[in-house]
Amino acid sequence: MHHFQYKGNELYAEDVAVREIVEKVGTPLYLYSHATLERHYRAMDEAFAAVPHTICYSMKANSNLAVLKTFFGLGGGVDIVSGGELYRALAAGVEPCKVVYSGVGKKDDEIEYALNTGILMFNVESEEELDRIDMIAGRLGKKAGIAIRVNPDVDPETHPYITTGLKKAKFGINIERSLEQYRRAARMANLDVMGIDCHIGSQLTKVSPFVDTIKKLKRLIEGVRESGINLRYFDLGGGLGITYSDEAPPLPAEYGAAITAETKDLGLHLLFEPGRNLVGNAGIMVAKCLYVKRGEEKNFVIVDAAMNDLARPSLYGSYHGVQAVRKDQEGVTVADIVGPICESGDFLAKDREVPSFRQGDLVAFMSAGAYGFAMSSNYNSRPRAVEVMVKGDAFVVVRDRETYGDLVRGERIPDFL
Ligand code: LLP
Repeated sequence: MHHFQYKGNELYAEDVAVREIVEKVGTPLYLYSHATLERHYRAMDEAFAAVPHTICYSMKANSNLAVLKTFFGLGGGVDIVSGGELYRALAAGVEPCKVVYSGVGKKDDEIEYALNTGILMFNVESEEELDRIDMIAGRLGKKAGIAIRVNPDVDPETHPYITTGLKKAKFGINIERSLEQYRRAARMANLDVMGIDCHIGSQLTKVSPFVDTIKKLKRLIEGVRESGINLRYFDLGGGLGITYSDEAPPLPAEYGAAITAETKDLGLHLLFEPGRNLVGNAGIMVAKCLYVKRGEEKNFVIVDAAMNDLARPSLYGSYHGVQAVRKDQEGVTVADIVGPICESGDFLAKDREVPSFRQGDLVAFMSAGAYGFAMSSNYNSRPRAVEVMVKGDAFVVVRDRETYGDLVRGERIPDFL
């Protein structure tokens, strides 16, 4: 049960009618439920109650300051992949000792920024990165906490674009070469080798790939310890899936029980990097129907949100549930729901049986809290949508709708023109 439910014919976000919010702020709109964010965080936290752990929210899924603050207020940390994410996390009040830094392409200035901030550790993704971090830490007179992101060569059985733990992926250091790199790292003067890390993919709907990964890594952990390295953290990454349509991913409790059973005797502090699982079903996107176009072969519901606002359907063929904000349409129609962008790939739903929307109707796209606004762009010079957070019967604009002025900010016309 989430907090986007009908009361009578009206879709509500917690105790506020979605229509009422739209009347104040317009469309397209991203809407987040604070109660859902909190519930998802607590479910994950409780799933690991039996072992020492920290939830480092993977903020690439949704980096709005209000969302970050919600999790930090509950004791969470953050998984970052850029200097910009670190900046946002600090702006929302993260404790630096709860920050882990992943990503294959960390730049010198980003490494410096993270070292000066005093983050917990870098999840190192290549041999060259080890050298780079050691050198920069030496220059700053600091010791850098590191874990090696181990690529375990396990298939998470998800979409190829979001599979990361196979040998052919660009991520992490191959498990066969990891021990040698641990030993090399341990000899570097400016590194504190404190952890082991993995992340095998996103939107996983089974527990077994996680368990297989842990089993493989346990053998490596033994070897690392035998080499005299004092490991303290085991970062298990993110990846637990959610229900968009009819998927049945394990609940956090089931995921927690399976992982706890495998790791409880290791004496390691566990870190998790959930993204989608915390925010995906805590957000919806709302658009307005501009036109209904009955084509020769297809019907099109043209709305005022597009692929620049919600890229997932165009990019991955992803499914987002479509619901009427007010259920007063008569009957259903099979249609494509499309945006105003000049590309055939600009669709939000395809060949979908939807309520027979009319001009002016409000359309809700469900499960849009993760990788929704965060992946939005200004393509076709479309200002990005407004973001709103609801808590109980109150709602607050947590990011203003962009203006036309915002679109040209920083641009200049040279004198020679
Ligand atoms: N940790 C690392 C190192 C990651 O790369 C990711 C996601 C996560 C954690 C969080 O994964 P999650 O718990 O959200 O599955 N844009 C795609 C998803 C890309 C995922 C990228 N990495 C989508 O919309 O489906």
